[in-house]
Amino acid sequence: MIEQMRYYLAGQAKSLPAYVLEQSLLTLFGWIPTVVGIGLRSAVYRLMMTLNGTAAIENGVRLAYASNIRLGRGVYLDYGVYLHALPSGITIGDNTFIMHHTMLHVFNFRRLPQAGISIGRNCFIGEFNVIRGQGGVSIGNDVYTGPMVKIVAVNHVYRDPDRPIREQGVTAQGIVIEDDVWLGAGVTVLDGVTIGRGSIIGAGAVVTHNVPPYSIAVGTPAKPIRDRREIGHNSYYQNAEVFWGTLEEIRK
Ligand SMILES: CC(C)(COP(=O)(O)OP(=O)(O)OC[C@H]1O[C@@H](n2cnc3c(N)ncnc32)[C@H](O)[C@@H]1OP(=O)(O)O)[C@@H](O)C(=O)NCCC(=O)NCCS
Repeated sequence: MIEQMRYYLAGQAKSLPAYVLEQSLLTLFGWIPTVVGIGLRSAVYRLMMTLNGTAAIENGVRLAYASNIRLGRGVYLDYGVYLHALPSGITIGDNTFIMHHTMLHVFNFRRLPQAGISIGRNCFIGEFNVIRGQGGVSIGNDVYTGPMVKIVAVNHVYRDPDRPIREQGVTAQGIVIEDDVWLGAGVTVLDGVTIGRGSIIGAGAVVTHNVPPYSIAVGTPAKPIRDRREIGHNSYYQNAEVFWGTLEEIRK
């Protein structure tokens, strides 16, 4: 029982005092709604994590290993976001928004040296995304993801059919998503993949191989169907009425 308790605590914070501090702040301030809660959390959460400026953290945000979380100026964490930063950490750049119920998880019990998640500036990570950072996930600047996107930098080894898969370890090479990529709704990105700068991945695609820069790739497995630099301006999609809004204006 004590062994299990130790194991649990080791997964939640870097030390017992850190656990007590983090859980106390989350319990006292994590539930408070409205801008009052956002203001209080922006002031007191810097006692347990790195805040480079003011971040807007909604109520109901769950943090584990907060001491390994670094948030830039103007970061927004929506209700229900869960960041678990064991042990190499999560870094989120200036003006990046993480929408509700998205989970960024570095749950590194296998001591992978490259584990961690880093997201650049001006990104928008959509609702209900799951990012698993065991092999390291590096997301550049200006990356947008639709709802229900999964980025999973880990695979189970299954060579021996006579042993349970869970006993055979994992591989974790890491995932790189370069600047200015848009992942459509429900995209899944598998371990070892690099998605080149400026690419678009169509809704529902499973990305199993590298995607060259400026590709539009669709399907399962995702295959490039076009180069964005060669589209021109004559497609229906490109000529439909265009809307943009205050989010881009306040980020300037
Ligand atoms: C990838 C995407 C941007 C392509 O748009 P487009 O450049 O206008 O491409 P087109 O609609 O001309 O489609 C080109 C071909 O790819 C196919 N295609 C387009 N999107 C596809 C997708 N997600 N999966 C599979 N095939 C797709 C089309 O059927 C078409 O095939 P065809 O030539 O055999 O008819 C768009 O289809 C898409 O998936 N958008 C994501 C929407 C989304 O997730 N929004 C959430 C907001 S973040």
